[in-house]
Amino acid sequence: MKHSLAPSILSFDLTNLHESVRTFLAAGAGIVHLDVMDGQFVPPITFGDSYVRALRSIVPQAFFEAHLMTLSPERHFEAFAEAGCGRILFHAEAGVHSYRHCQTLQSMGVEAGIAINPGTPVESVVELLDVVSLVLVMTVNPGWGGQSFISSALEKVRRIRELRPELNIEVDGGIDPKTLPIAQAAGANVFVVGSYLAKAPDLTAAVRGLMEQMG
Ligand code: DX5
Ligand code: ZN
Repeated sequence: MKHSLAPSILSFDLTNLHESVRTFLAAGAGIVHLDVMDGQFVPPITFGDSYVRALRSIVPQAFFEAHLMTLSPERHFEAFAEAGCGRILFHAEAGVHSYRHCQTLQSMGVEAGIAINPGTPVESVVELLDVVSLVLVMTVNPGWGGQSFISSALEKVRRIRELRPELNIEVDGGIDPKTLPIAQAAGANVFVVGSYLAKAPDLTAAVRGLMEQMG
């Protein structure tokens, strides 16, 4: 099982974002995690596909994943795929046709990921496990960076890992050097990290430190 670090750009200084992205990719992080919020599914509004396209022109080889915290996520699939996202994650809570939406993403040649909030049970995604390449178990309530890790979500990671030994399981929210090993022990293999990296005095050293912990 491949372990990957996915820095979220949400909490980085936007005036210098291109530099931070180049730095964390050069330090070995494999995924750029893009938190797209619509002011509806979650209160804040962040950015859309044109922003992602601009960022992509700076690092055209990087693997981009869009984490859509939006209602009607399927409305945005094409735009984010065209903007260069190789994986699109949407929330199980955001619609009633998740299975079809996963199939749509597959037919577009984009990896599908399904995300669940802390209050959403594993049962709501069990029927999707054959059509997704990743399950994102939120370890905070979506909407904001810098929140505290909700450790009870790890029981869901354990259960999904039991059901699917080979599936990518990602955790997002409150991940730092203390919580990463706990999430890894529960069975997670993709780790979104936002504010810990955004605040790090030495971004390269912080990425390398987390990568060493991942082993
Ligand atoms: C929260 C976002 C996260 C966020 C994580 O809604 O999905 O990706 O950036 O930030 P930290 O690591 O600060 O919890
Ligand atoms: Zn996210």
